[in-house]
Amino acid sequence: MKSIKVFAPATVANVSCGFDAMGFALESLGDQMVFTQTEDNGVKISKIEGANLPYDVDKNVVGVVAKQMLEDSNANFGLDIQIFKNFKPGSGLGSSAASASGTAFAVNTLLDNKYNKLELTQFAMQGEVTACGSAIADNVAACLYGGFILVRSYNPLDIVSIPTPGELIATVIHPQIEIKTADSRQVVPETIPVKTAVAQWANVGGLISGLHTKDFNLIGRSLVDYVAEPKRKELIPHFDKVKQSALNSGVLGVGISGSGPTIFALSKGKNIAHKVAKAMDEVYVNSGIGYNIYVSRISNKGVHLV
Ligand code: HSE
Repeated sequence: MKSIKVFAPATVANVSCGFDAMGFALESLGDQMVFTQTEDNGVKISKIEGANLPYDVDKNVVGVVAKQMLEDSNANFGLDIQIFKNFKPGSGLGSSAASASGTAFAVNTLLDNKYNKLELTQFAMQGEVTACGSAIADNVAACLYGGFILVRSYNPLDIVSIPTPGELIATVIHPQIEIKTADSRQVVPETIPVKTAVAQWANVGGLISGLHTKDFNLIGRSLVDYVAEPKRKELIPHFDKVKQSALNSGVLGVGISGSGPTIFALSKGKNIAHKVAKAMDEVYVNSGIGYNIYVSRISNKGVHLV
């Protein structure tokens, strides 16, 4: 009976212009989980640290994904799972996605890699349905593939890995308020004018091209969101101030991480990324709202064994 430990990174979904279609993984922030095979065929969550999440395996995304995979593969073992969360649900950093993707990866490892990454993404997306009611792929794919990803199509699912310039550094500020993804999705307009759609998809093209050619200015010019940010930013205290002061510090671009409240910025090089962290800190320090700031490279491997 084997026991394995995985690290599942936090992820930034949407990346401004790519609502539900783009994401990237952070290197230095993520959850750890321990999966131990058991002889009886059930799934049990025996420990959860760092967040108030259900132990009921039908309500916790970890249990949902694990049960589904063991059933689908007719596995002849069960699982005992321990979850160590380092960032909170409702942060906009892909907390449920880290749980779901870490589980999909770990169970697959114990099944001798029966499934490919696309199939793992599909299993993990079922965890997202449990967490927020929608089968969203941007966080889970970024977590499983690492680097930048594009969800080119949902039906059939098609995930494209985009090259990540090594000098690209993320700064994220996580205000300690919870925004439920399901609520944050309610404020995104259901329809948009064609003119807005043109501006948005042109920026997605610009961002993908900039990542391929390491054109940092083009990456920065493309980090604009005409679809979700105008409404969602109202849910995030001091969003405009954080954005403006980060832009004044020489950042390439700033936006909402996933469904918020985390705000992300991308910079060329660590020095600017740290200057941006300081600028964000100055906005929040006297706000009365608790917050964490992280400066991280983009993870090029996503979820992995530790
Ligand atoms: N793309 C999703 C959204 C990510 O913005 O709602 C959820 O974290």
